[in-house]
Amino acid sequence: MAKLYINPAMKLGKINKELYGNFSEHLGRCIYEGLYVGEDSPIPNTNGMRNDVVNALKEMKLPVLRWPGGCFADEYHWEDGVGPKESRKKMINTHWGGVLEDNSFGTHEFMELCRQLGCETYVNANVGSGTVREMSEWVEYMTFDGVSPMADLRRANGSEEPFTVNYLGVGNENWGCGGNMTPEHYANEYRRYQTYVRNYPSEKNPDKKPIYKIACGANVDDFNWTEQVMKIAGRYMDGLSLHYYTITDDWTHKGSATEFDVPTYYRTLGRASYMETLINRHGAIMDKYDADKKVGLIVDEWGTWFDCEPGTNPGFLYQQNTMRDAMVAALTLNIFNKHCDRVKMANIAQLVNVLQAVILTEGEKMLLTPTYHVFKMYAPHQNAQLLDSRMELEWIENGNEKVRKVYESASVNEAGEITVTLANLSADEAESMEIVFAEGSAASVTGELLTGKITEYNTFEHPDAVKTTQLTGVTMNEKGFSLELPPCSVVSLCVKMK
Ligand code: AHR
Repeated sequence: MAKLYINPAMKLGKINKELYGNFSEHLGRCIYEGLYVGEDSPIPNTNGMRNDVVNALKEMKLPVLRWPGGCFADEYHWEDGVGPKESRKKMINTHWGGVLEDNSFGTHEFMELCRQLGCETYVNANVGSGTVREMSEWVEYMTFDGVSPMADLRRANGSEEPFTVNYLGVGNENWGCGGNMTPEHYANEYRRYQTYVRNYPSEKNPDKKPIYKIACGANVDDFNWTEQVMKIAGRYMDGLSLHYYTITDDWTHKGSATEFDVPTYYRTLGRASYMETLINRHGAIMDKYDADKKVGLIVDEWGTWFDCEPGTNPGFLYQQNTMRDAMVAALTLNIFNKHCDRVKMANIAQLVNVLQAVILTEGEKMLLTPTYHVFKMYAPHQNAQLLDSRMELEWIENGNEKVRKVYESASVNEAGEITVTLANLSADEAESMEIVFAEGSAASVTGELLTGKITEYNTFEHPDAVKTTQLTGVTMNEKGFSLELPPCSVVSLCVKMK
């Protein structure tokens, strides 16, 4: 029996809703087909955006969306994606499959998508192959409501009102696809570029928030990158990114997304849990330069990366999504919650049809992946206060792999309702859990359960093979309650206290 202690009186900080963010790149079928089908498509759409996908994402409470990349961002020239569609420049998407990019989805379309989703915007600017002027004019184009060449151009292109840019990324992976820079070089470039990210005042909106500026952060465990960028440019940024993908073996043997054995399952989860070490170690370096934790760690690319589905374009990164992915999402989101003092936003890669997607589409069909269900189950944590919680630890040992059996986090919302999310990583053993409150006792507990075999997934023929059900079997006692977590399961509980 595992014991979880929760102290409802000890609030440890806000879990930013942005931890549940996502990422949409011009890559494969994420934007085109997945999100945007165009106004003339037979697939039901509003201003070109798929209604089925938009509705599902609203239900999942998607808080923020990053766009246009990724590696694509440092090749993207925003002027190519505005104005009449028929005259927009066509280009080759050299990074992703060498396909034709007709720029029919550009700034106005992204802003329209976010408007329909009711989510915040995270725009990633081009440093690798762009210029300071190009980036600064993009910001002017999007956000200025006065008279200026760029604001006037936006109006001429159909948007009288300015758009809201909540987050702006200054380059992407500039240690790699974004220009192969050294950390020192990037840090100086960052200082220069960010100078021209202007916060235009608005007469109509005097409370307009400044744009949150995000510097390109490290690849996985490149701690020297964090050290140098923080040292040289730390005081000019609001956030510093981190990219970490869960690769089960190595880049040349990523393995099948759906066909794997139990040792491979644990290896994947072991790799995913490395996120906590990365947050701690990058966080410790950031603490040296920013003891007050003013600079957020922004994990704006994370998730599983497997071999693409057989028969699909290798440049499209289309992979299926099993209960193993759900467990990766569940344990990672619990880690993010517990580190909400430093981690201020996270964006799983990617939203639709790419890598660890929450939605897959095929023509007019759409399915929700197990990862989608986890995000929806965890949504009550958004903007809630993290509670102190501690688990009597149990570990699973499988070959060389050692992983925690259960990952948890707990939060309380403004109405006093406590959300507890639990992930039982064991492939084959249920776990009896006792939940004990340091003070007070529970009046009622309701919950949702997601469980299945480790390799189970949804298909277009059986879209509900993996879905949530109502949790049963909670036994209340004076100090708390007990329940059983099935093997390979995720549980989200809503607790009302007496
Ligand atoms: O998400 C796919 C790619 O992974 C992104 O374009 C890039 O930033 C990262 O290497």
